[in-house]
Amino acid sequence: MLININGIGIDYRDLGSGIPVVFVHAFPLDQTMWDPQLSALQKLFRVITIDLRGFGGSHAPAGPYSMTQMADDVRALLYHLEINRATLVGLSMGGYISLAFLKKYPQIVRAIVLADTRATADTPEARERRLISADKAEREGSRAIADDMVPMLLGRTSLDSRPEIVRRVREMIEGNSAQGIAAAQRGMSERIDSTELLSQLDLPCQVIVGAEDVLTPVSEAETMQRGIKGARFNVIDRAGHLSNLEQPEEFNKLLSDFIDECR
Ligand code: MLT
Repeated sequence: MLININGIGIDYRDLGSGIPVVFVHAFPLDQTMWDPQLSALQKLFRVITIDLRGFGGSHAPAGPYSMTQMADDVRALLYHLEINRATLVGLSMGGYISLAFLKKYPQIVRAIVLADTRATADTPEARERRLISADKAEREGSRAIADDMVPMLLGRTSLDSRPEIVRRVREMIEGNSAQGIAAAQRGMSERIDSTELLSQLDLPCQVIVGAEDVLTPVSEAETMQRGIKGARFNVIDRAGHLSNLEQPEEFNKLLSDFIDECR
Protein backbone atom coordinates (compact mmCIF):
# COMPACT_ATOMS: atom_id res chain seq x y z
CA MET A 1 0.00 0.00 0.00
CA LEU A 2 1.46 3.37 -1.04
CA ILE A 3 1.03 6.34 1.31
CA ASN A 4 2.50 9.82 1.42
CA ILE A 5 5.09 10.12 4.17
CA ASN A 6 7.53 12.98 4.72
CA GLY A 7 6.67 14.30 1.24
CA ILE A 8 7.22 11.08 -0.74
CA GLY A 9 5.35 7.86 -1.57
CA ILE A 10 6.27 5.00 0.76
CA ASP A 11 5.09 1.44 0.17
CA TYR A 12 4.36 -0.86 3.09
CA ARG A 13 2.48 -3.97 4.21
CA ASP A 14 0.61 -4.45 7.49
CA LEU A 15 -0.75 -7.95 8.23
CA GLY A 16 -1.90 -10.01 11.19
CA SER A 17 -2.77 -8.75 14.66
CA GLY A 18 -1.32 -8.55 18.16
CA ILE A 19 2.16 -7.34 19.11
CA PRO A 20 3.43 -5.02 16.34
CA VAL A 21 6.73 -6.17 14.78
CA VAL A 22 8.36 -3.88 12.21
CA PHE A 23 10.84 -5.31 9.71
CA VAL A 24 13.48 -3.00 8.21
CA HIS A 25 15.21 -4.37 5.11
CA ALA A 26 18.84 -4.58 4.00
CA PHE A 27 20.69 -2.75 1.24
CA PRO A 28 20.10 -2.83 -1.73
CA LEU A 29 16.97 -4.96 -1.38
CA ASP A 30 13.31 -4.25 -0.62
CA GLN A 31 10.55 -5.30 1.77
CA THR A 32 9.93 -8.59 -0.07
CA MET A 33 13.13 -9.94 1.49
CA TRP A 34 10.88 -10.41 4.54
CA ASP A 35 8.29 -12.57 2.71
CA PRO A 36 9.23 -15.74 4.65
CA GLN A 37 8.72 -13.85 7.92
CA LEU A 38 5.50 -12.17 6.76
CA SER A 39 3.84 -15.41 5.72
CA ALA A 40 4.76 -17.37 8.85
CA LEU A 41 4.62 -14.72 11.57
CA GLN A 42 1.40 -12.90 10.61
CA LYS A 43 -0.36 -15.82 12.32
CA LEU A 44 1.29 -14.80 15.59
CA PHE A 45 1.88 -11.04 15.50
CA ARG A 46 1.01 -7.85 13.65
CA VAL A 47 3.80 -7.69 11.05
CA ILE A 48 4.73 -4.52 9.21
CA THR A 49 7.25 -4.23 6.39
CA ILE A 50 8.32 -1.02 4.66
CA ASP A 51 10.06 -0.24 1.38
CA LEU A 52 12.60 2.33 2.53
CA ARG A 53 12.90 5.47 0.42
CA GLY A 54 14.71 4.66 -2.82
CA PHE A 55 13.73 0.97 -2.79
CA GLY A 56 10.95 -1.32 -4.02
CA GLY A 57 7.66 0.50 -4.58
CA SER A 58 8.65 3.62 -2.63
CA HIS A 59 9.77 6.80 -4.36
CA ALA A 60 13.43 7.61 -4.80
CA PRO A 61 13.98 11.34 -4.18
CA ALA A 62 17.42 12.91 -4.42
CA GLY A 63 19.86 11.72 -1.73
CA PRO A 64 21.85 11.10 0.30
CA TYR A 65 19.44 9.24 2.59
CA SER A 66 20.74 9.43 6.14
CA MET A 67 19.94 6.62 8.56
CA THR A 68 18.04 9.19 10.64
CA GLN A 69 15.94 10.24 7.64
CA MET A 70 14.99 6.63 6.99
CA ALA A 71 14.25 6.15 10.72
CA ASP A 72 11.97 9.21 10.48
CA ASP A 73 10.13 7.50 7.60
CA VAL A 74 9.60 4.40 9.76
CA ARG A 75 8.40 6.62 12.63
CA ALA A 76 5.93 8.40 10.33
CA LEU A 77 4.59 5.05 9.10
CA LEU A 78 4.02 3.88 12.69
CA TYR A 79 2.26 7.16 13.44
CA HIS A 80 0.02 6.63 10.39
CA LEU A 81 -0.76 3.09 11.60
CA GLU A 82 -1.46 4.39 15.13
CA ILE A 83 1.19 2.12 16.64
CA ASN A 84 2.63 3.48 19.87
CA ARG A 85 5.20 0.77 20.60
CA ALA A 86 6.77 -1.87 18.41
CA THR A 87 9.50 -4.48 18.24
CA LEU A 88 12.03 -3.52 15.57
CA VAL A 89 13.78 -6.14 13.45
CA GLY A 90 16.57 -4.67 11.32
CA LEU A 91 18.92 -6.61 9.09
CA SER A 92 22.21 -4.99 8.05
CA MET A 93 21.30 -1.48 6.78
CA GLY A 94 17.95 -2.15 8.47
CA GLY A 95 19.96 -2.57 11.68
CA TYR A 96 21.72 0.78 11.18
CA ILE A 97 18.29 2.39 10.70
CA SER A 98 16.87 0.61 13.74
CA LEU A 99 19.74 1.98 15.84
CA ALA A 100 19.10 5.50 14.51
CA PHE A 101 15.42 4.98 15.38
CA LEU A 102 16.29 3.81 18.89
CA LYS A 103 18.47 6.86 19.43
CA LYS A 104 15.75 9.29 18.37
CA TYR A 105 12.56 7.50 19.48
CA PRO A 106 13.53 5.20 22.39
CA GLN A 107 10.08 5.32 23.97
CA ILE A 108 8.52 3.63 20.94
CA VAL A 109 10.84 0.61 20.92
CA ARG A 110 9.64 -2.39 22.91
CA ALA A 111 12.46 -4.74 21.91
CA ILE A 112 15.07 -4.80 19.16
CA VAL A 113 16.47 -7.53 16.93
CA LEU A 114 19.78 -6.76 15.23
CA ALA A 115 20.46 -9.26 12.46
CA ASP A 116 23.66 -9.45 10.40
CA THR A 117 24.58 -5.89 11.25
CA ARG A 118 27.06 -3.81 13.21
CA ALA A 119 27.00 -0.86 15.63
CA THR A 120 30.22 0.72 14.38
CA ALA A 121 30.57 3.45 11.76
CA ASP A 122 32.46 2.88 8.50
CA THR A 123 36.24 2.88 8.58
CA PRO A 124 37.77 5.46 6.20
CA GLU A 125 38.51 2.62 3.72
CA ALA A 126 34.94 1.29 3.89
CA ARG A 127 33.59 4.81 3.37
CA GLU A 128 35.79 5.25 0.33
CA ARG A 129 34.60 1.91 -1.13
CA ARG A 130 30.98 2.95 -0.61
CA LEU A 131 31.39 6.26 -2.40
CA ILE A 132 33.03 4.48 -5.34
CA SER A 133 30.15 2.00 -5.41
CA ALA A 134 27.58 4.85 -5.32
CA ASP A 135 29.24 6.44 -8.36
CA LYS A 136 29.31 3.06 -10.08
CA ALA A 137 25.57 2.56 -9.48
CA GLU A 138 24.85 5.88 -11.18
CA ARG A 139 27.23 5.18 -14.04
CA GLU A 140 26.48 1.49 -14.73
CA GLY A 141 23.08 0.84 -13.16
CA SER A 142 21.73 -1.59 -10.59
CA ARG A 143 22.76 -4.71 -12.53
CA ALA A 144 26.43 -3.88 -11.96
CA ILE A 145 25.72 -3.55 -8.23
CA ALA A 146 23.96 -6.92 -8.25
CA ASP A 147 27.06 -8.48 -9.88
CA ASP A 148 29.23 -7.07 -7.10
CA MET A 149 26.93 -7.78 -4.18
CA VAL A 150 25.13 -11.10 -4.70
CA PRO A 151 28.30 -13.16 -4.00
CA MET A 152 28.77 -11.28 -0.72
CA LEU A 153 25.16 -11.12 0.44
CA LEU A 154 24.62 -14.86 0.31
CA GLY A 155 26.50 -17.57 2.16
CA ARG A 156 28.49 -20.38 0.57
CA THR A 157 25.65 -22.88 1.06
CA SER A 158 23.09 -20.71 -0.75
CA LEU A 159 25.49 -19.75 -3.53
CA ASP A 160 26.36 -23.41 -4.16
CA SER A 161 22.98 -25.05 -3.78
CA ARG A 162 20.05 -22.58 -3.70
CA PRO A 163 19.71 -21.10 -7.22
CA GLU A 164 16.18 -19.82 -6.50
CA ILE A 165 17.48 -17.63 -3.65
CA VAL A 166 20.38 -16.37 -5.77
CA ARG A 167 17.91 -15.45 -8.53
CA ARG A 168 15.47 -13.78 -6.13
CA VAL A 169 18.15 -11.60 -4.51
CA ARG A 170 19.47 -10.56 -7.93
CA GLU A 171 15.95 -9.66 -9.07
CA MET A 172 15.40 -7.50 -5.99
CA ILE A 173 18.60 -5.55 -6.57
CA GLU A 174 18.01 -5.13 -10.31
CA GLY A 175 14.47 -3.91 -9.59
CA ASN A 176 15.80 -0.94 -7.65
CA SER A 177 16.78 2.38 -9.18
CA ALA A 178 20.42 3.44 -9.44
CA GLN A 179 19.45 6.75 -7.80
CA GLY A 180 18.03 5.02 -4.72
CA ILE A 181 21.01 2.68 -4.40
CA ALA A 182 23.54 5.52 -4.69
CA ALA A 183 21.63 7.71 -2.22
CA ALA A 184 21.48 4.96 0.43
CA GLN A 185 25.17 4.10 -0.03
CA ARG A 186 26.11 7.73 0.55
CA GLY A 187 23.80 7.88 3.56
CA MET A 188 25.36 4.77 5.11
CA SER A 189 28.82 6.25 4.66
CA GLU A 190 27.85 9.10 6.98
CA ARG A 191 26.32 7.03 9.77
CA ILE A 192 27.59 7.48 13.29
CA ASP A 193 28.94 4.89 15.72
CA SER A 194 26.19 3.44 17.97
CA THR A 195 28.38 1.40 20.34
CA GLU A 196 27.81 3.82 23.21
CA LEU A 197 24.04 3.78 22.63
CA LEU A 198 24.02 -0.02 22.89
CA SER A 199 26.05 -0.01 26.10
CA GLN A 200 23.23 2.00 27.73
CA LEU A 201 20.42 -0.11 26.30
CA ASP A 202 17.75 -1.12 28.77
CA LEU A 203 15.34 -3.19 26.71
CA PRO A 204 15.25 -6.75 25.36
CA CYS A 205 17.71 -7.28 22.53
CA GLN A 206 18.52 -10.21 20.27
CA VAL A 207 21.54 -10.44 17.98
CA ILE A 208 21.30 -12.92 15.09
CA VAL A 209 24.00 -13.71 12.52
CA GLY A 210 24.50 -16.24 9.74
CA ALA A 211 27.50 -18.52 10.32
CA GLU A 212 28.59 -17.89 6.70
CA ASP A 213 28.11 -14.09 6.78
CA VAL A 214 31.16 -12.45 5.17
CA LEU A 215 29.89 -8.85 5.35
CA THR A 216 29.19 -8.74 9.10
CA PRO A 217 30.95 -11.88 10.34
CA VAL A 218 30.10 -13.81 13.51
CA SER A 219 33.08 -12.30 15.35
CA GLU A 220 31.75 -8.79 14.74
CA ALA A 221 28.21 -9.73 15.83
CA GLU A 222 29.67 -11.31 18.96
CA THR A 223 31.55 -8.11 19.81
CA MET A 224 28.34 -6.11 19.40
CA GLN A 225 26.33 -8.54 21.55
CA ARG A 226 28.94 -8.44 24.33
CA GLY A 227 28.46 -4.67 24.49
CA ILE A 228 24.70 -5.00 25.17
CA LYS A 229 23.54 -5.96 28.65
CA GLY A 230 21.53 -9.20 28.59
CA ALA A 231 21.39 -9.50 24.81
CA ARG A 232 20.64 -12.89 23.31
CA PHE A 233 23.03 -14.22 20.70
CA ASN A 234 22.12 -16.71 17.98
CA VAL A 235 24.20 -18.01 15.09
CA ILE A 236 22.31 -19.60 12.18
CA ASP A 237 24.17 -22.38 10.38
CA ARG A 238 24.24 -22.63 6.58
CA ALA A 239 23.24 -18.96 6.25
CA GLY A 240 25.17 -15.91 5.06
CA HIS A 241 24.35 -12.21 5.43
CA LEU A 242 20.67 -12.69 4.51
CA SER A 243 20.04 -15.17 7.31
CA ASN A 244 16.26 -14.55 7.30
CA LEU A 245 15.96 -15.58 3.64
CA GLU A 246 18.56 -18.31 3.66
CA GLN A 247 17.26 -20.21 6.71
CA PRO A 248 13.77 -18.77 7.30
CA GLU A 249 12.45 -21.52 9.56
CA GLU A 250 15.31 -21.17 12.02
CA PHE A 251 15.18 -17.37 11.85
CA ASN A 252 11.41 -17.34 12.47
CA LYS A 253 11.68 -19.71 15.41
CA LEU A 254 14.42 -17.67 17.09
CA LEU A 255 12.52 -14.46 16.47
CA SER A 256 9.10 -15.68 17.64
CA ASP A 257 10.60 -17.29 20.78
CA PHE A 258 12.31 -13.98 21.59
CA ILE A 259 9.16 -11.90 21.03
CA ASP A 260 7.10 -14.33 23.11
CA GLU A 261 9.62 -14.14 25.94
CA CYS A 262 9.49 -10.37 26.11
CA ARG A 263 5.70 -10.18 26.21
C1 MLT B 1 23.26 -4.49 3.80
O1 MLT B 1 23.12 -5.71 3.64
O2 MLT B 1 22.34 -3.77 4.18
C2 MLT B 1 24.61 -3.90 3.50
O3 MLT B 1 25.55 -4.92 3.36
C3 MLT B 1 25.00 -2.93 4.56
C4 MLT B 1 26.33 -2.29 4.28
O4 MLT B 1 26.69 -2.11 3.12
O5 MLT B 1 27.01 -1.92 5.25
